[in-house]
Amino acid sequence: MSDNRAAFRDAADRRFIIRDAEDQFAEDNEIVIRNAAISLNPVDKYTLYDRFPQIPGADVAGEVIEVGLDVTAFQEGDRVLGHALAIGTKENRHGAFQRYTAIPDNMAARIPRHISYQSAAALPLGVSTAAAALFQKDFLALSNPTVPPATLSEPRAVVIIGASGNVGSNAVQLAKAAGYTVIGTASTSSAKLVKDLGAQEVVDDRVNDKNVVVENVKKALNGMDICGVFDAAGMPGTHKLARDIVIAVSGRKIAVTTQSYEGEGLEFEGVTLMDVMAVAIQNNEVGKMVYGFLQKALQMKSYQVPDTVVVGKQLGDIYGNLDGRGKKIILME
Ligand SMILES: NC(=O)c1ccc[n+]([C@@H]2O[C@H](COP(=O)([O-])OP(=O)(O)OC[C@H]3O[C@@H](n4cnc5c(N)ncnc54)[C@H](OP(=O)(O)O)[C@@H]3O)[C@@H](O)[C@H]2O)c1
Repeated sequence: MSDNRAAFRDAADRRFIIRDAEDQFAEDNEIVIRNAAISLNPVDKYTLYDRFPQIPGADVAGEVIEVGLDVTAFQEGDRVLGHALAIGTKENRHGAFQRYTAIPDNMAARIPRHISYQSAAALPLGVSTAAAALFQKDFLALSNPTVPPATLSEPRAVVIIGASGNVGSNAVQLAKAAGYTVIGTASTSSAKLVKDLGAQEVVDDRVNDKNVVVENVKKALNGMDICGVFDAAGMPGTHKLARDIVIAVSGRKIAVTTQSYEGEGLEFEGVTLMDVMAVAIQNNEVGKMVYGFLQKALQMKSYQVPDTVVVGKQLGDIYGNLDGRGKKIILME
């Protein structure tokens, strides 16, 4: 493995420099993937941490070329997807924007032949972020997703704001597979997608008067208790909407978001507001659980992969494609 190349961020700006990189290796609990596809996420626009040079990127799919001593679930030649964790570990071995990436074995899943590397690479960060919010014990603490979907002894609901986005669409599918009734919010143009993913009702969240959105979510719940609200969009407007829904409906008074609430003055007595970090699930039971679920769900064709668009074939194509919506893929030559 002497042919590694990477997109390095050498300073606190968005620019990437493409150059040779060190060989990557697998620690005992890791696999090394030869990346066939990597995907771009909004977070890649920003400096990950204050150590340079750094190799950003979170999403990879490709072939396992090395397996650590303690790894039993994967072998060389497996087709896999993986969540690259450099934002958490600050180690360049764990960045996605290179030819080879080391991934802990609890943050990877084998992919069946009918799923392309292009589609698979779109999943890991969205899956991890949604799972971190929904299943970690200190967050919404839902019970685990299963194939086929679980049945709860008593019906329970979860509200997902930004249900059409990358994080949100995974959250809808995971919560549904765990047996929960999902009420999603999205723009009207995304409502069909969110329903197809498994939401029972989709509430239009682009009306100016957000009290109307709160009332419509309440109506959609029809008296059912919620386990909490997950704001997958993570914007100041959606932070307030999440809090207001929690206040207005019955059930657990907790809202979890993908971006910090800090400084927004949204604190309200009796309501817990939390922000989540996707990489946290590597350090608890949720990582292994959700990637095990994903592997089975993909195999059984019971998990939808997002639409993707290939925007380039080289690491040099990343920089110009960091802005804009949709799941953008670099299909590595
Ligand atoms: N904490 C973490 O570890 C972590 C990890 C990954 C991502 N994130 C963050 O999570 C957020 C979502 O990421 P993503 O990859 O899912 O992004 P995305 O795919 O671009 O989705 C954005 C979502 O926001 C919704 N949205 C846009 N404008 C809105 C508005 N004015 N009101 C309500 N909803 C609006 C979109 O709805 P429509 O499609 O209906 O327009 C869509 O559902 C980003 O801020 C990202 O940085 C955090």
